[in-house]
Amino acid sequence: MADKKAQLIIEGAAPVELPILTGTVGPDVIDVRGLGASGHFTFDPGFMATASCESKITYIDGDKGVLLHRGYPIEQLAEQSDYLETCYLLLNGELPNEEQKAKFVSNVKNHTMVHEQLKTFFNGFRRDAHPMAVMCGVVGALSAFYHDSLDINNPQHREISAVRLVAKMPTLAAMVYKYSMGQPMMYPRNDLTYAENFLHMMFNTPCEIKPISPVLAKAMDRIFILHADHEQNASTSTVRLAGSSGANPFACIAAGIAALWGPAHGGANEAVLTMLDEIGDVSNIDTYIAKAKDKNDPFKLMGFGHRVYKNRDPRATVMKQTCDEVLAELGIKNDPQLQLAMRLEEIALTDPYFIERSLYPNVDFYSGIILKAIGIPTSMFTVIFALARTVGWISHWKEMLSSPYKIGRPRQLYTGEQQRDITALKDRK
Ligand code: CMC
Repeated sequence: MADKKAQLIIEGAAPVELPILTGTVGPDVIDVRGLGASGHFTFDPGFMATASCESKITYIDGDKGVLLHRGYPIEQLAEQSDYLETCYLLLNGELPNEEQKAKFVSNVKNHTMVHEQLKTFFNGFRRDAHPMAVMCGVVGALSAFYHDSLDINNPQHREISAVRLVAKMPTLAAMVYKYSMGQPMMYPRNDLTYAENFLHMMFNTPCEIKPISPVLAKAMDRIFILHADHEQNASTSTVRLAGSSGANPFACIAAGIAALWGPAHGGANEAVLTMLDEIGDVSNIDTYIAKAKDKNDPFKLMGFGHRVYKNRDPRATVMKQTCDEVLAELGIKNDPQLQLAMRLEEIALTDPYFIERSLYPNVDFYSGIILKAIGIPTSMFTVIFALARTVGWISHWKEMLSSPYKIGRPRQLYTGEQQRDITALKDRK
């Protein structure tokens, strides 16, 4: 909706009038699409002040620490919903009624297996390959298996691809883990819940099927809910950008996985544990805090700070509670790494450097600790983030394709050489 207008005064040129658009909540945005006619572009590396699209899926108020999916606060979804219900909500806009939920859950369960031939892809990877490297490959490879549903202009095809991706990600993630361990891959079990099934495929073997702890399954489900979507972050924007060229959904999600891998984004939960290893002991904390504050040192306290949340990350609050439940269930109290993490948390919450910059522990700080306690190796942490975020990525991809869109094509401020002529090789200095 546009009722207000902004006026841009450019020295030596006529003023440019730009419409101001208003959303349901959140700051108004200045629509700069018409600016090109004046011979200017906007410059905003890192998208610090630029909305790249219009969306109805997720709303974040970073100053107040609010995260809403389709209007529902993340705390309520974590308490009163489960992951598949949250998936339905993100994909369809409303929470399901009982019948819709049963149908969706059954639909997802009917797609949990992957093509048998996909297993042969794994043999091409070294067993010590990073699991995210394997995930980028095997998820992208799904495009080679589902030719029956790759017409991105067909809403039914988009729907079936969405369900396939949500259903198959836990299977693929567990296969990646089993491959790295040299253990047989486990088939999904449709009598289990989504989270139980994932833990079953991760930790059971054909010779020993152990029951899944309800506390750990609930913690896993919460981790999935809390990572399900986070509006236009780096990986989601990557999925939208890849999708805007008309690429198929499996290829787009593989692109999202690649973007998520970096330590400033999804790789942070792994980086938290690597950092705790590096710090080693509580007695070294002061040295590392000093490094984190030193502008000339690239070291950052992993798991602290957020681009959008400049107050507490609401997901971190829920995750901390789950973290306490998991540690109590597993009877972990005196783990030195955990003590180190708790001491870091204490310092960051009281040290003026962190307070002034609003560098609170983020969701990855606690999820890393929980995943480690459950027995998931650190190299798998980002894979689990990717598994959970797939529904967010695919919801944004579907949303973009459901209304008119343009290929994403940012402009640039060029600061390179002006046009010049080639000097013959023999004459070059
Ligand atoms: N440790 C120490 N100092 C920090 C940290 C940190 N983790 N994060 C930011 N700062 C400082 C930064 O040096 C800067 O200081 P100054 O104002 O004196 O120059 C100030 O805080 C503002 O930081 P910024 O780099 O401008 O903030 P940003 O919004 O560009 O970066 C971030 C956000 C998440 C990339 C960054 O905080 C970071 O690298 N954190 C560690 C990695 C991490 O935990 N990432 C996971 C984010 S949550 C998962 C997700 O949603 O993807």
